Amino acid sequence: MIFYWRCLVEALVIGRATGRFSLFRRRRRNKTRFASLSLSLQNRDVVGIALLLLLVQSTISSSIRNSRKMVVSPKIAPSMLSSDFANLAAEAKRMVDLGADWLHMDIMKLSFVVIDLYDTEPFLVSYLLTSLLFHLQDGHFVPNLTIGAPVIESLRKHTSAYLDCHLMVTNPMDYVEQMGKAGASGFTFHVEVAKENWQELVSKIKSAGMRPGVALKPGTPVEEVYPLVEGETPVEMVLVMTVEPGFGGQKFMPSMMDKVRALRQKYPTLDIEVDGGLGPSTIEAAAEAGANCIVAGSSVFGAPEPGKVISLLRTSVEKAQPTT
Ligand code: DX5
Ligand code: ZN
Repeated sequence: MIFYWRCLVEALVIGRATGRFSLFRRRRRNKTRFASLSLSLQNRDVVGIALLLLLVQSTISSSIRNSRKMVVSPKIAPSMLSSDFANLAAEAKRMVDLGADWLHMDIMKLSFVVIDLYDTEPFLVSYLLTSLLFHLQDGHFVPNLTIGAPVIESLRKHTSAYLDCHLMVTNPMDYVEQMGKAGASGFTFHVEVAKENWQELVSKIKSAGMRPGVALKPGTPVEEVYPLVEGETPVEMVLVMTVEPGFGGQKFMPSMMDKVRALRQKYPTLDIEVDGGLGPSTIEAAAEAGANCIVAGSSVFGAPEPGKVISLLRTSVEKAQPTT
């Protein structure tokens, strides 16, 4: 390769005669029959050949670079909570077409959200309770604030995308079977409500054909999920909540990055998801800390060009991830 570089430099800088001579001399040492061919080469031929060889060299080195694998791959998961629910199938297709890897589906139960909001958002709590009372007076029981298994089942008929289901419910075990049948791909439950039975829960999730994940709220210490990652039947993803569960469009909590950092240091190949307030202004912090699965609702659906946000999120994760 050094020889070709020399040819290029000679042809460009020193000039035609030297370039031709170098090529001829090298060829003659190897095989005499190439000598006459080499002699007849003109300056522009030397430059052309050298450029071609450079192209070959750069193609080879870029394929070597690409063959270096990222330890964990980026998964960009638009949160369908921010989509137009009346057009869920079309919204799902739009996101996949724009480059989404997963679709994040929030399954929320009122009690799960209210318990946590009680201290911080009393107004919101009273609104939610009033709305629940309204529904109860109406004669309807409303277990889910947002999406449930029937919606997953309907959506599954329209998409083959990975449905990354985040269950903000107090009784995840009750949902495993129906979510599996409905076509959920990932089933992420909260550690706060599964302290006693997580081993059984993880096994059931796997048996139902889904990928188990565990989530933790902002107030939950990261150490609480370690046993679940190291268990005999381990979870395959940890979701670090970067807002209080309940709503899209909240402010990202940078202090949660300590949890992500601790997890990444301990488990280099684990899928670590962040959820809440992720977008162009916060992705750097999350990616640097080691998150590779990025949930983004309002920043994607609220953008004039959601595809650009998706690709920006992916690039940030790719840049921050070490390769093997
Ligand atoms: C919050 C949900 C999130 C939410 C994220 O409880 O778990 O998935 O949709 O929305 P943004 O990205 O708008 O914060
Ligand atoms: Zn979520």
